[in-house]
Amino acid sequence: MPQITVINRSGEETQVEAETGRTLMEVIRDNGFDELLALCGGCCSCATCHVHVDPAFADKLPAMSEDESDLLDSSDHRDETSRLSCQVPVSDDMDGLRVTIAPED
Ligand code: FES
Repeated sequence: MPQITVINRSGEETQVEAETGRTLMEVIRDNGFDELLALCGGCCSCATCHVHVDPAFADKLPAMSEDESDLLDSSDHRDETSRLSCQVPVSDDMDGLRVTIAPED
């Protein structure tokens, strides 16, 4: 099972096991990070699951859909490492990934 490091808004790092096939949002939420609100439950309509992903893993993530990109535009904290974590399924080649929960909008 891939191990990922989640960095919360205080900068604290926690290693979690990420089950393949679940989304990054589910993994982060189910490991008790309640600052990742994920209000819409993963249907790509809220942008409260915004994370910044280690650029070294950019080519291991699925391409961003237009909907995801449009929603991320509503965030003041969007940058080139931004993703909506509910749109990123965990895969084996994400072992070692570092994900930072984006600041609240
Ligand atoms: S949980 Fe709402 S967009 Fe990801």
